[in-house]
Order: sequence, then structure tokens, then C-alpha cells
Amino acid sequence: MVFEQGSRALLLTRVIAGAAAAAGANAAGGAWPLRPLATPWWAGCRAYSSASAPPSPVLHNPRGVPAFAFDIDGVLIRGRDVLPPALQAMQLLCRGGRWRYPVVFLTNGGGVTEARKAQELSAWLDVVLSHTPFRALVPRLRTRPVLVVGRRDTPAVAASYGFQKVLTTHDLAAAHPDALPFGAAAPPSGWKQRPAAAPCPVRDLGWGSDAAPIAAALVFCDPAGDSWYQDLQLLADVATSHGVPMRSRPAPGSSPTEFHFSNPDLLWANEHPRPRFGQGAFAAALSALHERLAGGPLPAAKFYGKPNPEPYRLCERLLLQQAAALGLAPAEAADAGSTGEASDCGSSAAAARVFSGGIYAVGDNPAADVRGANSAGPPWVSVLVRTGVFQGPGANSASDPAHVVVHDALAAVQAALHGAPASKSRAA
Ligand code: G3P
Ligand code: MG
Repeated sequence: MVFEQGSRALLLTRVIAGAAAAAGANAAGGAWPLRPLATPWWAGCRAYSSASAPPSPVLHNPRGVPAFAFDIDGVLIRGRDVLPPALQAMQLLCRGGRWRYPVVFLTNGGGVTEARKAQELSAWLDVVLSHTPFRALVPRLRTRPVLVVGRRDTPAVAASYGFQKVLTTHDLAAAHPDALPFGAAAPPSGWKQRPAAAPCPVRDLGWGSDAAPIAAALVFCDPAGDSWYQDLQLLADVATSHGVPMRSRPAPGSSPTEFHFSNPDLLWANEHPRPRFGQGAFAAALSALHERLAGGPLPAAKFYGKPNPEPYRLCERLLLQQAAALGLAPAEAADAGSTGEASDCGSSAAAARVFSGGIYAVGDNPAADVRGANSAGPPWVSVLVRTGVFQGPGANSASDPAHVVVHDALAAVQAALHGAPASKSRAA
């Protein structure tokens, strides 16, 4: 893939257009043309960079090989808007259609397969989605009914991971319309509808009955705006009945349905000047309802995505494979941590050896991106930008101080490649 400077910028504009178009198609049943941001509302405060902090061991080691993990929402795009500094940042890291350094995209977004997201961003990118770790649940849950929640291509993604009995709240609503007195939500237009002649998974196949209770609820990404009521009501029915929603209480000796949330983000950044509710807000609402109904938090609830460790181990393995492919690391580095188990910290040890210049995690959300990179430990370096959720006040996040605070993705790459100063307030 050979790019002239100009054509790459054009290409990047086009590929990120793909991302928004795909998003738009599902969410609004029509294409949302991507619009390059004219004069970003924050243009005035471009030159920000933070005061220094106790340097992380890998910062300012220009001799070391750096690597990058870019967050997406609030760093590269805001809803349909591409953030111009993101294009420039990618141009700095890419030469002749190849990355100069290992780069992955680490998002708490989802609802599409990794390949589709990479396609949206462009075929030559490695992407880790918040629900990528759900693949590890397949061996155990492959043949048991699972209830999946989320926008975009969620049921298709679940099936592509290997889950064979995939139910949605739309299936439950269709089988028991009186379960939703205020009306059911329409399935997203992009979803493949079950053929009319196909057996109803609830009434005919008994998924969600005593014979085949719903073993797990998997929230792949934020539910569609118009299905929060439906999803909250039916997930609460499933939680308080151990997977048999028509039961008023769990069958004696039955085990609770597992709840897997792909990310804990209370807030995320789109075009709106103020951050918006994310999946974490939905999970909080469901848990509060369960507390009222059953007198306690959701049993067996597990959160994935940033700031949890799994995605960072996955990124380390992808970055090591890229480093080996780019000749920046010995070939065997590509196999480090390859047992696939998130707990396999083999990747961290190898990553610390190979990326002595640091793995720069560029993100906009202190509670997800900074907390995650800080807990992942060296060689991870947390880089906080001001183009998304984090808007100050102050030079750094008070709750999750970052190693480096800069204005945007471009300044982040410049800081990483040229050893820009780090913020002072990072607690050791
Ligand atoms: O729904 C996605 C949102 O929660 C955040 O995505 O890319 O900022 O991790 P991202
Ligand atoms: Mg973000």
C-alpha cells in the first residue's frame, strides 16, 4: 500500500468515514456522512502540555522502541467527527503505508467484529474491542442459551465468536409481548431478522425455560437509545429468575445467570460538548433496579474492557507480533504470552524488554484509559488528551493522574517520539 502524503490524508479521511458510515447505518437506518471538523470548539487551547510528574521508568528513553495504543472515541473521532490532530498523528506514525512503530487501537466501543472495526479504520490496523475477551467464554457457553445486548451487529458478532444459542431481548419481547406494557423497541434495521418460518427460540426451542435457562447475559456494547426500557425490564426479569424470565422467583437449587458487561464506562465523548452516558450507566441502572427487586447487587456480574487488565495483555501480544514483523524485536517475541490466557503475563515481561521506549496509551477518559494503563504497569505510559471526556479543571486528572497530559493525539505522538515533559501530579 503506497501513499503520497496528500493521498494518505485523503485515504485516512475516507477510512474513518467508513467507521462513522457503518455506525450511522445501524443506528439511524441511513448513512451519516463523516464531516471533517471545521473549527473545533477547542481550537483556542491548542498549545497545552502538562507540567512534569515523577517520570515513569520508560519515559524519555528515546533509544527504546516505543509502541502505541490509541483509544478511539474522544481521541480519533467524536461521533461522526474525525479529530484533525488524529489524522496528523497517524501520518507521523506511518511511512510508505507501513507503521514506523507498533500501533493498536484499544476501544471500549464494540458491537461489530474486530475485523469489521479494523476495516472501518482500515485493513492495516490491529483492533482490540471491549468484548474481545468474550471469546474466552465460548468453550463454556457455546451450546447454552445466552442473552446478548447491544447495538450495531451484536447478535452476528456473538454468533461469529461461536455462541450457538444467541437470544436478544427482541426475541423475549416477541414471545411475551405483555412483558413490556409500555411497548417493545424495534430491532435495529441492520439486524438479520429470523425467517418467519424459523422456530421461535423462546416458545418453540424453550430457551429461557426451566429446561434451558439463560446461562449468561452478554452486554457487547451500549444498548440502543430506544431499547433501554426493554433491556432493563427483561434483563431484570432474567436476573431475578436465574435465567427463566417467566418465573417470579428462581427455581430451587438453580444458579444465577452470569452478567458480563464489555466495559464499565459511565461516560464517553461524542459530538456533544458534554460527555454522554455509556454502558456503565446502563449497568448502574440495572444494578440499582436489582437492588430494589432482590435486595442486593447483580450476582455474578463481571466487567471487561478498560481499565481491566485483559485488554492490555491482548494489546501487548498484538504489539509484540507487530514489533517482530517490523524487525523491531526478535521473532520469538511474537509468541510471548501466547497461551491466550489473560492471566498469562508472559506478554508483559516480553513487552517490557522490547518496548523500552514505552507503550503509550493515548486516551480521553481518566477512569478507563489512564487507570487502565497505570494499573497495567511498565512499559505502559498513560497519555491523557483533552479532546474527549477529560476537560479539566486542572492540569491532570485528580482521580487518575496520567504520566503525560497533552491536548490531542498529535501532541501525544510528538511527546512520545520526542520525549515531551510528563505531568507533575502522577502519584507514584
Ligand atoms: O461506547 C464506547 C465508549 O464507551 C468509549 O469508547 O473508544 O473511548 O474507549 P472508547
Ligand atoms: Mg475514549
